[in-house]
Amino acid sequence: IMDQYSFPDGYKMPIEGFGVYKLDDQKIMNAAINQAIDSGYRLFDTAQAYANETMLGKALKQTNVPRSELFITTKVAEKNQGYDETLASFDDSLQRLDTDYVDLLLVHWPIHSSFFATWRALEHLKQEGTVREIGVSNFHQTHLDYLATQANEMPVVNQIENHPYLSQEALVSYGKTNHIITQAWSPLGRGTVLKDPVIGQLATKYAKTPAQIILRWHLQRGLSFIPKSKNPARIAQNAAIYDFTLSDVDMTNLNQLNKNQRTGDDPELVYELEHQYH
Ligand code: A2P
Repeated sequence: IMDQYSFPDGYKMPIEGFGVYKLDDQKIMNAAINQAIDSGYRLFDTAQAYANETMLGKALKQTNVPRSELFITTKVAEKNQGYDETLASFDDSLQRLDTDYVDLLLVHWPIHSSFFATWRALEHLKQEGTVREIGVSNFHQTHLDYLATQANEMPVVNQIENHPYLSQEALVSYGKTNHIITQAWSPLGRGTVLKDPVIGQLATKYAKTPAQIILRWHLQRGLSFIPKSKNPARIAQNAAIYDFTLSDVDMTNLNQLNKNQRTGDDPELVYELEHQYH
């Protein structure tokens, strides 16, 4: 059974979710979602930019799991940022997902021209109730600090690239201090980290797979994480991490693998904004 995280207002989110980035075929989507539901996932993470919200909506419908038991995240695409654009694009997302609310809406990337306008739209959607929780993605601490200068409420999630080669410890602990849970995208490092010899040794020691060692490390650090796979056995495997505990020494060994190595884009540094801000 997957653990849940409680937001400051008491609303709950499963700590582990299923990411659907790059799932772009309805048959494959349905099979993956069925396997994920059977394996215990209830959090599903998509984005306007993934162009698969309609597919995810259909796949979730055919599982017959009640909407109230699902937790759906989507993200405002860069091209849809701005106040009116965000509201309009969110309506389209609801239609595509075939639902009347989203559990978590994220600003996909920080964009300096629409930085505060987009956030005000998210705050509005939360007030209105069509979005339960609001957050951001790919924000550095400077972005969060800058947002705090005008926000009425702060994000409760920052979804960032995070894996043993990019542990972003300072940003994670900043989040903990400020009630922003860090959610890891590419928690497995898109496969490269899976071949690390230290992780291989731990897999042998705990009789688990490298992926399970890495996901357990995220869990014990207090992160939320959204592994993705098209492979049914791996979808199940990635959910089977709740029956063992990594020792403190092994957590330290894993923490030491960090090399600040990204597999994806580095978020735009909003130099112009920082200049005005300081
Ligand atoms: P596949 O779909 O063939 O399983 P990330 O979420 O870090 O970006 O990584 C996703 C990649 O890792 C996908 O290519 C996926 O491939 C692969 N993957 C997911 N789970 C596992 C696992 N348990 N073992 C090995 N590879 C995995």
